[in-house]
Amino acid sequence: MVVFVNRNLVSASDILHDAVKNKIAIGAFNFSNMETIQAIVAGANELNTPVILQASASAISYIGFGYINAMISAASEESAVPLVLHLDHGKDFETCKKAVDNGFLSVMIDASSLDFEENIAMTKEVVEYASKYGVSVEAELGTLSGVEDEVSVAEGKAFYTDPNQAQEFIERTGISSLAVAIGTSHGVNKGKTGNPRLSIETLKKIKDKVGDFPLVLHGASSVYADVVTKCNSYGADIQNAFGITDEDIREAVQNGIAKINVDTDIRLAYLGAVREYLARNKSNIDMRKYLGAGRDMAKEMIKRRLKTFL
Ligand code: G3H
Ligand code: 13P
Ligand code: ZN
Repeated sequence: MVVFVNRNLVSASDILHDAVKNKIAIGAFNFSNMETIQAIVAGANELNTPVILQASASAISYIGFGYINAMISAASEESAVPLVLHLDHGKDFETCKKAVDNGFLSVMIDASSLDFEENIAMTKEVVEYASKYGVSVEAELGTLSGVEDEVSVAEGKAFYTDPNQAQEFIERTGISSLAVAIGTSHGVNKGKTGNPRLSIETLKKIKDKVGDFPLVLHGASSVYADVVTKCNSYGADIQNAFGITDEDIREAVQNGIAKINVDTDIRLAYLGAVREYLARNKSNIDMRKYLGAGRDMAKEMIKRRLKTFL
């Protein structure tokens, strides 16, 4: 069992309840390497806001728990704002247990593809284990998909989170935060022909049922056109790229969203900068130059997104 002793490493529930009360959201950014950890911590410090650093199972297998622990420990020594180390989309009890045992103070169990009762059972098992160590648990209810997909509900599958089920799920599992499906999806292709709009109406109905309980928005990247254009102008081929508008994000924050997950925007910012650097500096062989350019642009993206959450 890894235990960090640093006042700047906190669990998500320490900061998410205050976020709801203050009608702000905490940024939850995925990291893939040292440079993205540094970018997230520097961006949050420049805006003086706590931040959640999250690793997916594939990021953990790429970096390794040992390196993650060492880098997060170093980051927390440098950070003046509280940091949360969070497992993103843990797919089963074992994945979540491993994260808890390796010092994560917050985990997500994503059993949203299971039926309601099975989702509750698996989530409860994780809550029982995690709560022994003061680790907060996020779970998910509903299916992340675009607004267009909602039209096919007639086929029998409910995509958006059901407000009544949300309340029951929270009561029966003892989770600390709930990811809701209100029209977002992961990755660069969020809308088929334009930026998808969030169902703020669904969110308001959920909030009416759950009050000040912290809600989480996954798939929240904005996929800004200027960033995609930059990537493509330096040789990428990213098509049909649309994200969530800043306007919808602000409205979601006013209506109970307390944690906002962003990965794709960081990837795009980083990629654009690396591609530009390599295209303009063809004789360069120093990786610190292009990875550093990626890190700088990722930090700017973190700040750009955080400004719409606060
Ligand atoms: O929600 C998914 C994140 O974007 C993580 O993606 O599994 O490729 O690290 P990944
Ligand atoms: P994006 O793909 O929109 O960045 O969403 C990331 C996410 O939800 C990570 O859990
Ligand atoms: Zn997600």
